[in-house]
Amino acid sequence: MSLANILWEPALNWDGAATSLETQALTPIENPVELHQSLAVGVSKLQQTELYPPLFRNAFGSRTITEENVLKALAQFERTLISANSKYDKYLRNETELNSQEIAGKVLFSNHPDPTIPVAGADCMHCHNEGNRLFSSTDYTRGAAASFFNNGLDSQPKDAGRFIITGQESDRGKMRAPTLRNIALTAPYMHDGRFKTLEQVLDHYSDHVAKDSPNLDLNLLTATNKRNGTQLSLSATQKKQVIAFLLTLTDSTFIQDKRFSDPFKP
Ligand code: HEC
Repeated sequence: MSLANILWEPALNWDGAATSLETQALTPIENPVELHQSLAVGVSKLQQTELYPPLFRNAFGSRTITEENVLKALAQFERTLISANSKYDKYLRNETELNSQEIAGKVLFSNHPDPTIPVAGADCMHCHNEGNRLFSSTDYTRGAAASFFNNGLDSQPKDAGRFIITGQESDRGKMRAPTLRNIALTAPYMHDGRFKTLEQVLDHYSDHVAKDSPNLDLNLLTATNKRNGTQLSLSATQKKQVIAFLLTLTDSTFIQDKRFSDPFKP
């Protein structure tokens, strides 16, 4: 998942397993399928370098590196990863215009479909919150429980998602919807990386939502732009428009920020 604007996310990982960046940071370090090393061993390796003890002294007042301070340092760095200068942000600040295709995509993104009215909807904003500019499922007004959804990828979800954390059947198959900021740059998509392109993502939401999936979000269950339709049914043009809008969320200021690049590369 993207780490852009992660400081504002109260629940982390696809299933919300962690609720602070400090506790989250421990998981990938020790997890056997990720870095697979105990933090204690990592700390003793850092302690033996020339580079890190002085940096920890500058930050925390002591050359002795602790597990707690490693997690704090990682978390605090993540809190600086703020993306707020995409074309869409500039548009909101009246610094640039969106073209007609991007505007059409924005309208689709934010509209609930209703076949009885002439304006189509793609329904994305129900779960990718545009209102708070995060474009994730985090919804401060509705609270953490409302931030996990089943978006109908499979009739039988292989990954239990939020269920692992709460043990509630009503949470089986639900995931956090990640931010869509810089989404054009972060393929493949979904928790299992099943989609290689945004076109495939739009095809999923438009034509292939698994309606029998347990706990499928109610909006997705009923959303359609066609009378008596069973799927959202966006036209090829409408899919392109939504993608054009998603491309306005690419923030090259963020992507090219030297402070976020590999410090060991000249
Ligand atoms: C019912 C809630 C819901 C709706 C509506 C919804 N999404 Fe999602 N979206 C999710 C969830 C949940 C995930 C993560 C699912 C997973 O990986 O299992 C996701 C994932 C994504 C991803 C992949 C993100 C990544 O980092 O891999 C993209 C892109 C995306 N959605 C775009 C859209 C677009 C475009 C729309 C509107 C056409 C839309 N979504 C509508 C809930 C929703």
